[in-house]
Amino acid sequence: MSLLRILVLHGPNLNLLGSREPGHYGTTSLADINQALIELGDRLGAEIITFQSNHEGELVDKIQQASLARSELGHIDGIIMNPAAYTHTSIALRDAVLAGGKPFIEVHLSNIHQREQFRHRSMLADTAVGVIAGFGACSYELALRGLIHHLKNTGG
Ligand code: DQA
Repeated sequence: MSLLRILVLHGPNLNLLGSREPGHYGTTSLADINQALIELGDRLGAEIITFQSNHEGELVDKIQQASLARSELGHIDGIIMNPAAYTHTSIALRDAVLAGGKPFIEVHLSNIHQREQFRHRSMLADTAVGVIAGFGACSYELALRGLIHHLKNTGG
């Protein structure tokens, strides 16, 4: 199978990882999370493209680009996304992943079900291949393994 190409999207405030509420999100920086994903992707046969934004529309734009045959992103096989606070509010992100049709995994560092009630609801989870939450930075690595497994078993 040719190299898979996976887009990893990080939502608002995740640029602050490392210093932001370490009790919930740990001390690993976003740069270190991305680097670990790139290295794991190398071992598993996937190219990783990462993007973080604090703006809902920019995340929508990336999801749309990922579904186009020709875009500046190039071909994308699947998406890993931590929509952060937009998880709980964003019909726009939900509609974007539904319209794009690319398999995606929802990721959270914290176990959102152990936290405030408003974090228990996800606008996206039922459209995802799977959801991983509660393993800190390791959630992303589990998501990458899960998405690659899914893509190899379904042919993408
Ligand atoms: C988060 C959980 C969200 O509720 C929160 O708004 C975040 C991060 C997580 O990774 O645990 O920003 O998605």
